[in-house]
Amino acid sequence: MAKRKKVKVFITGGAGFIGSNLAKKLMDRGDEVVMIDNFNDYYDPKLKRDRISKFLKGYDFKLYKGDIRDEKLLERIFKKEKIDKVVSLAALAGVRNSLLDPLAYEDVNIKGTMNLLQMSVKYKIKNFVYASSSSVYGNNKKQPFSETDSVDTPISPYAATKKATELIAHVYSHIYKLPTTGLRFFTVYGPWGRPDMALFMFTKNTIEGRPINVFNRGKMSRNFTYIDDIVSGTIKVLDANLKCDVMNIGGDKEETLMRYIEVMEENIGKKAKKNMMPMQPGDVPATVADISKLRKLGWEPTTRIEEGIKNFIDWYKEYYKVK
Ligand SMILES: NC(=O)c1ccc[n+]([C@@H]2O[C@H](COP(=O)([O-])OP(=O)(O)OC[C@H]3O[C@@H](n4cnc5c(N)ncnc54)[C@H](O)[C@@H]3O)[C@@H](O)[C@H]2O)c1
Repeated sequence: MAKRKKVKVFITGGAGFIGSNLAKKLMDRGDEVVMIDNFNDYYDPKLKRDRISKFLKGYDFKLYKGDIRDEKLLERIFKKEKIDKVVSLAALAGVRNSLLDPLAYEDVNIKGTMNLLQMSVKYKIKNFVYASSSSVYGNNKKQPFSETDSVDTPISPYAATKKATELIAHVYSHIYKLPTTGLRFFTVYGPWGRPDMALFMFTKNTIEGRPINVFNRGKMSRNFTYIDDIVSGTIKVLDANLKCDVMNIGGDKEETLMRYIEVMEENIGKKAKKNMMPMQPGDVPATVADISKLRKLGWEPTTRIEEGIKNFIDWYKEYYKVK
């Protein structure tokens, strides 16, 4: 078999949950990785530092501590590093928080991504893969969500910035022929996950004996997507160099929030104290993905929540030294 040519990939948000996992997988298969992250304090930056120093220990990569809004820094990086491809993950994530600080979301998610697109055109990047989100579907009534559905009615500032990113990427593909693909991630979970996301908060509170807030009184469902499946799908798209596309990337089984909590309880060995709460503004009751488009590239999600949640809780207990 012909040997695959090594690729140099620039990952923005490399100290983040998805970025660090992607970096590891790319280096495992022999690619070179350059990353940028500003280690902001949206959640505990120690977790970001530990992803770099512990999770990626022993790996050889270059990390720039800096901001994607800093055009001069980006110019220096692109000029020096001779990057082949970009995976743009740096963003302010989190639907609920975007209601509190919408202008920061606009600044990082839209302006920051545009800076990267500008550089990618200038330095003739071969593929620009960027994080969009299932939240672009807003209150779409049709299930599962398909890429052909209209996404013109986002219901949070965060979702609007992600939709804007898709529109802007289209412009750069159309005018400058930059290959771009946006990935609409559906609720990602797994080891080294984000402290602001449900599984992390539920696990922490349950272990510490504090109640968990169950929104919409538990009447929620999601295509929870395990981190390894997200990484393998992202790599499929990174290798494909599509001209201009947007794709769903989600687990293949619709799970209810109550089942997700139940599996967590089984793994912790303790019942959660549940505060049944109304729906949160900006949130949606169900996000279920039609993943047939990404499947056509040969991708298949393989991790069920029973296995994925167990892996998360094993990691959580070890990382936080839970007895
Ligand atoms: N995790 C999910 O379930 C999910 C779902 C949908 C979309 N996404 C998107 O996927 C991407 C990665 O998400 P994640 O879960 O890994 O989040 P994360 O917050 O763990 O990772 C993002 C990283 O980007 C960095 N960053 C933020 N602003 C920056 C800036 N201005 N300059 C440089 N670095 C900056 C952060 O410090 C962080 O380490 C994001 O774009 C997010 O919106 C994630």
